[in-house]
Amino acid sequence: MIPLRRTMKTVLLRRLFRVALLFSVAVGPVAAAPGVAPRQSIVPGAIWPDDRGHHIQAHGGGILKLGDTYYWFGEDRGGEVTSKKPLERKVACYASKDLMNWELRNQVIRTGPPEPEIGSPFVFERPKVYHNAKTGKFVMYVHLDDKSYRLARVAVYVSDTVDGDYTFVRSFRPLGLESRDIGQFVDDDGSAYLIFESRPSKGFYIAKLSDDYLDVVEQTCFIKSPLEGGALVKYDGLYYMIGSWMTGWKPNNNQYATATSLAGPWSAFKDIAPKEKKTYGSQSTLMLKVVGSKKTSVIFMGDIWRPGNHQDGRYLWMPIEIGNGRLWLPEPREWTIDVATGETSFIERR
Ligand code: GAL
Repeated sequence: MIPLRRTMKTVLLRRLFRVALLFSVAVGPVAAAPGVAPRQSIVPGAIWPDDRGHHIQAHGGGILKLGDTYYWFGEDRGGEVTSKKPLERKVACYASKDLMNWELRNQVIRTGPPEPEIGSPFVFERPKVYHNAKTGKFVMYVHLDDKSYRLARVAVYVSDTVDGDYTFVRSFRPLGLESRDIGQFVDDDGSAYLIFESRPSKGFYIAKLSDDYLDVVEQTCFIKSPLEGGALVKYDGLYYMIGSWMTGWKPNNNQYATATSLAGPWSAFKDIAPKEKKTYGSQSTLMLKVVGSKKTSVIFMGDIWRPGNHQDGRYLWMPIEIGNGRLWLPEPREWTIDVATGETSFIERR
């Protein structure tokens, strides 16, 4: 006969286990299962699990590198299952040292409309974070809009730490101009720029931030091409700008142009991939330069939007062919990167 005390203990333990299991199913795993090998590659367009096994929520994102750590900020669409604009908007921050394995650090913004006149639901897109070396602050720009995209403003948020809670400073139209999609760029001399599309001008601007980064103070260049999703990189002494046509959530053939100076003149725009591929279903958000000991690689970061279910939106990250005034996005396939050397390679699986 089994002693009664032991039976009760076993029953209790079993119940506890069941509750723990139910809880973990309800909230999802909090850490990668022990023994699970780290991710060794990037698969463009696939579900990209974070350290908890949840699909990364950093849509329309940007990257900030501090020391040897990359921080990926983006729209956190978790919990959104329809294209209806939600009442609350979130920005998530993930950290990685190898660009393949990402740990969720914080939902750095979780907010309703930051100003009453904006109304609800509202638009909160393409967050980009800069680090100001002089003030030590982390400054976030985000496209803030009402539900019909008529306000066309940026909102500025600050934090003392990269992955801390960001607090709202103010919202405004940069240089007094309508601004929707935004992009970020920091030049080799440390100057920080905001790229923003402005419909009335039928083009987009590259504009310099103030010393404290809290304002947009100077027009560096206006590029008269109706492009958005602006992404800029300097490679081998030449600036390369990528933009997409304005087709909403639908993909199109993203374009690029080059210039020896940020102020221009810029070359004519050309396709970054075969026109009919429509950027392989994605839209540009950033170009990330990885300077390694052997090579400098540039990664195209694009969003494959799923407007019917935003949280399922995918990421198209691919190393691009770049140099001598040419930029080309190769056909997406599995690849890997060594951030120390800067080398990337494709992975063939049979
Ligand atoms: C896209 C833009 C997205 C979002 C969308 C709304 O063109 O890049 O960030 O604003 O339009 O339709």
